[in-house]
Amino acid sequence: MAEKIVILTGAGISAESGLGTFRDVDGLWTKYDLDDVATPEGFARNPDLVHSFYNARRANSAAAMPNAAHNALAKLEQQHAGDVIIITQNVDGLHEAAGAQNVLHMHGILAGALCDTCGARWTAPVTMRTTDTCPTCKANATRPDVVWFGETPYLMDAIHEHLMQADVFAAIGTSGEVYPAASFALQAAQFGAHTVEINLEPSANVSDFAETLFGPATQTVPAWVNAELGRVG
Ligand code: APR
Repeated sequence: MAEKIVILTGAGISAESGLGTFRDVDGLWTKYDLDDVATPEGFARNPDLVHSFYNARRANSAAAMPNAAHNALAKLEQQHAGDVIIITQNVDGLHEAAGAQNVLHMHGILAGALCDTCGARWTAPVTMRTTDTCPTCKANATRPDVVWFGETPYLMDAIHEHLMQADVFAAIGTSGEVYPAASFALQAAQFGAHTVEINLEPSANVSDFAETLFGPATQTVPAWVNAELGRVG
């Protein structure tokens, strides 16, 4: 039976594509207060600030290119005989730009817009404004389709199913600081998965993993993918 490989990615996999991480020395949370730009309360308080924060990230993300790590995961998905599922905390579209197709965006996606009134979703304009209205119900209640602190991540039922069925679980480029994603390694291990952390340096939950690979993702991820393809094909 071909092995099921479940991969969790965080901001570190997109760092070498020029997109900022959150908690590194020059991370986004050293420049912005997350309460102001990544909570429903912050959006209610100052929607213009939140839109300008995400408009800038949307433009950066649209201009960024997938790197060797994104490309390696897409190759694994295409060449591995079994299932490969990418669960990403990232809101950029770099996994899809690299050709990956089984991507679950648990924190939403910068390219998406959401209506808080009717729940409609559509492709966000590059610049979202507080004056925008929903194309479906016309309410002036549009927001970036991203999950903020205090909100429930998307697709959690599907994610739990994948974690229960994983033979291999790899976390790539994530600090292990934010739940529920930081609990996935232990959950997968409870169901028998081999767990590996692939990161620039040990994360907050490195002790949850059976194996570790440290270094820049553009080096460690292609090496790991080639080893996986050699091992299981
Ligand atoms: N290669 C591999 N790993 C890297 C690289 C790199 N080139 N550069 C940085 N990293 C690692 C860092 O060592 C760190 O462990 O990536 C991780 C980035 O951690 P965070 O900045 O905390 O990002 P992430 O784990 O994705 O944050 C999780 O928090 O703010 C919320 O919603 C946001 O999805 C985000 C969540």
